[in-house]
Amino acid sequence: MTDRVPAAVVVLAAGEGKRMRSELAKVLHAICGRSLLEHVLVAASPLAAQETLVVVGHMREQVIHHLDDIDQSGTPVVQEAQEGTGHATRIALDAAGASDGTVVVLPGDVPLITTETLQAMLQRHAETNAAATLLTSKLADPSGYGRIVRTQDGQVSAIVEERDATETQRQIDEVGTSIYAFDIAKLRAALARVTTDNAQGEEYLTDVIGLMVGDGDVVAAITAPATETLGVNDRVQLAQVRRAMRDRIVEHWMREGVTIIDPQTTWMGVRVTLEPDCVIHQNTQLHGATHIAAFAEVGPDSTLRNTTVGRGATVIKSHCTGAEVGPEAKVGPFAYLRPGTSLGRGAKAGAFTELKNARVGEDSKIPHLSYVGDAEIGDRANIGAATIFVNYDGVDKHDTKVGNDARVGSDTMLVAPVEIGDGAYTAAGSVITEDVPPGAMGVGRAKQRNVEGWVEKRRPDSPAAHAARKAREQSESPATMEPTSPVESEHEAGE
Ligand code: UD1
Ligand code: CA
Repeated sequence: MTDRVPAAVVVLAAGEGKRMRSELAKVLHAICGRSLLEHVLVAASPLAAQETLVVVGHMREQVIHHLDDIDQSGTPVVQEAQEGTGHATRIALDAAGASDGTVVVLPGDVPLITTETLQAMLQRHAETNAAATLLTSKLADPSGYGRIVRTQDGQVSAIVEERDATETQRQIDEVGTSIYAFDIAKLRAALARVTTDNAQGEEYLTDVIGLMVGDGDVVAAITAPATETLGVNDRVQLAQVRRAMRDRIVEHWMREGVTIIDPQTTWMGVRVTLEPDCVIHQNTQLHGATHIAAFAEVGPDSTLRNTTVGRGATVIKSHCTGAEVGPEAKVGPFAYLRPGTSLGRGAKAGAFTELKNARVGEDSKIPHLSYVGDAEIGDRANIGAATIFVNYDGVDKHDTKVGNDARVGSDTMLVAPVEIGDGAYTAAGSVITEDVPPGAMGVGRAKQRNVEGWVEKRRPDSPAAHAARKAREQSESPATMEPTSPVESEHEAGE
């Protein structure tokens, strides 16, 4: 087994990626939560190579900075001018410590490659005692790729770049993927002999294959499906590999017992984790370290980033980032949960609510149209419709506390810092600027006064005046008098 542990992995990532038309280095474009480069490094990481070298050139500051950021990383090696894949590999080997053993070479833009395929390539390399083992693919449309030329008995004899290929060679549908295992010493020797005598005037790594075959060395090959070897040269291919990666992730979770209603409109990143029996509805995007527990339902039309959803909770048509949704809690439709939000078991953040840095206790409800920022809400509290936690005085943010079983009336402004005690009420429409003690009713609004007869006097002949006169005449005739209802409570909308 140890002979299958490579001495080095070399990732070629110095190219310009011109066709991306981007200010971002090509290998830094992301699919499903990782850069193209990081996908490659993650796939290579279980090979446990002694060193991993990443050849950087174009936009190298960005790439080097990214290598500092990511977990599965590599050591940058600078290629000042991009003089070809052979030149890039030569520079990497100059920086490599190993003088014998195996080196795996990969381009930085093949994010779909799997560890299993790299291991199969290394196994073939060891079994055949080869100087080089190529990973090839058969493509319906091989244009643009180097073609694998084989002898009549099927042995690889060379790789020919399309621009240098004959008409007959262009008919070959087996292509080089730029993924190889090499004997380091033999690769070094062959690279020293590679010339720039080709259509692009570059040192081609592919040329070492012909040189090795000429030396009588063994060159082996294995074939992998194009779904693993697709490279990214432009944004169309970027979208293709993203779809392929999405399919792979979504299929994985379905096999783990997750119901995904519409895989085609469900997108998720590689760090998302899902428990069996959760249900993901259509048009849902799960990003970052989002976790969904069993029997929770997320979607349709929801985007969650770094959010955890507890067992049996529902999140409908909502946008959540950095939030914790407790078991049995209900979110949406049209809720916006921002970082620092946590909903306790059975809590609710209903339609048109925005929560930020807000801890909401068990079974507490914010059913509609509210902003809750910098808040601590106890258990079983109800926040009436259109309540605003006024947390910002224009300079600083302040906190609001709402106690257990408190009932905040509709359209209350809670001007922070302020505290509503356990079991306290606020009157609908209040501006609450002072603490409300436990069990008290906080009323902070102007007293209502009615100017009798105003409409008939000031808006004569209007429809309102006619209706008013009719009502007055009816009430003045004792025969049609109705009992007046004794409603005197403070209304709060919602449950
Ligand atoms: C290369 C292969 C081709 C193969 C194809 C698979 C060569 C000569 N050709 O062609 O046979 O079918 O990949 O995708 O190898 N790079 C550097 N420094 C350089 C040049 C390139 O680091 O000076 C890097 C690029 O960033 C890229 C990789 O090497 O990650 C491949 O280079 P690219 O120019 O894309 O090669 P292709 O023309 O696609
Ligand atoms: Ca390429």
